[in-house]
Amino acid sequence: MKLIDALNWRYATKKMNGQQIPAEKLNTILEAIKLAPSSLGLTPYKVIVIEDAETRKQLQPHFYNQSQIVDGSAVVIFATWTNITEKEVAAYMQDIAEQRSVPVESLTDFSNMINGSLKNQTPEQAQIWAAKQTYIALGFGLVAAAAEQIDATPMEGFNPAGVDEVLGLKELGLHSTVAITLGYRDEAGDYLVNAKKVRYNDEKLFIKK
Ligand SMILES: Cc1cc2nc3c(=O)[nH]c(=O)nc-3n(C[C@H](O)[C@H](O)[C@H](O)COP(=O)(O)O)c2cc1C
Repeated sequence: MKLIDALNWRYATKKMNGQQIPAEKLNTILEAIKLAPSSLGLTPYKVIVIEDAETRKQLQPHFYNQSQIVDGSAVVIFATWTNITEKEVAAYMQDIAEQRSVPVESLTDFSNMINGSLKNQTPEQAQIWAAKQTYIALGFGLVAAAAEQIDATPMEGFNPAGVDEVLGLKELGLHSTVAITLGYRDEAGDYLVNAKKVRYNDEKLFIKK
């Protein structure tokens, strides 16, 4: 399926049918999420992948009982690092050095630049910045799911404190920001299955110069 056809096929599925998605397709979607870019490349988040039915059941009330949480096949939760400090930056430099086979000392200027920009932000601003990065990964996941013909619902309709509690994210220094539920649409039960996509037309959306 061509990319634009896949994006027209996808919609924020309201009701899923309980069918499990193949591991291979889930892995492809996760790989796309892994390939999402982030500002400075720091990737200040973790991605929690939940297939376990019991855990999803525990999460559902914190998602205001949205049915996709239990009728889908997997819930992917994006959670930002609570602390973004020189320690995390140093670990990132180590990763670059290893993966690109360069001496870590050659990254000093880059590391100083990142630490400098972090110091210019309050912890609240750093959290907002980190949350923005998770939305880029969310977008990559949604496009990959469409390309794989897997239904997906982007979700921020949840209580982060409750989700963090169920998953023990606070102890891991994480804070949930946004989620995707993956599964298959319930053709008979989803009122949006055949709904026309609502988007602004070119004139309203684009300013071209
Ligand atoms: C960040 C984000 C959060 C969303 N949260 C929810 C949600 O919690 N539950 C839900 O059913 N849909 C949610 N949606 C789906 C939107 O309502 C939907 O994407 C929008 O109406 C456009 O429709 P379409 O995705 O079907 O094309 C969310 C979408 C985004 C991008």
